[in-house]
Amino acid sequence: MKDIKKHIFLIGMMGSGKSSVGKILAHHICSTFIDLDQEIIRRSGKSIESIFTEEGEEAFRLYETETAFGLNLENPSVVATGGGFPLKESNFTWMKELGKIVWLKSSSDVILERIQHEDRPLLPKPIKKEHIENILMSRISIYEQADLTIETDLFDPEQIAKEIEDKLA
Ligand code: S3P
Repeated sequence: MKDIKKHIFLIGMMGSGKSSVGKILAHHICSTFIDLDQEIIRRSGKSIESIFTEEGEEAFRLYETETAFGLNLENPSVVATGGGFPLKESNFTWMKELGKIVWLKSSSDVILERIQHEDRPLLPKPIKKEHIENILMSRISIYEQADLTIETDLFDPEQIAKEIEDKLA
């Protein structure tokens, strides 16, 4: 086992593999895996979709920050954040202070392939590549500030987790 003691925060677009990679990585380095969206669901008792439709995106962003700041991070953890989480400066600073930020960089083609049949609150159906690209372009300058960027398109979650582990060791 490699000695990665600080927390690791996975950022990136929806469909970039943060949850699947995070689970494997946490297992490899004996850390706790935390999925921020799942924590929001658990704590609020609501689905992400219903928060968006009933209360709006701004309310969701508050749930997101409150849930993150309330996490128990006693043990070294790998945290898969939601795609929009790093956009708020205070969220980004919080991650930076607590550990390493890793951007899982995926192309809009690959993202589309992965999420085209899913329900995504920010993407009206049918999900179009153009819409994904617009969101990606609006976020890229933030994602680029990660400590580490991993290109994900050509690799499976196991390979990506291994690469993060090697690069942060
Ligand atoms: C969002 C991504 C989703 C979820 C919400 C908003 C976003 O999480 O938090 O639908 O703004 O990109 P994933 O990135 O885990 O899919």
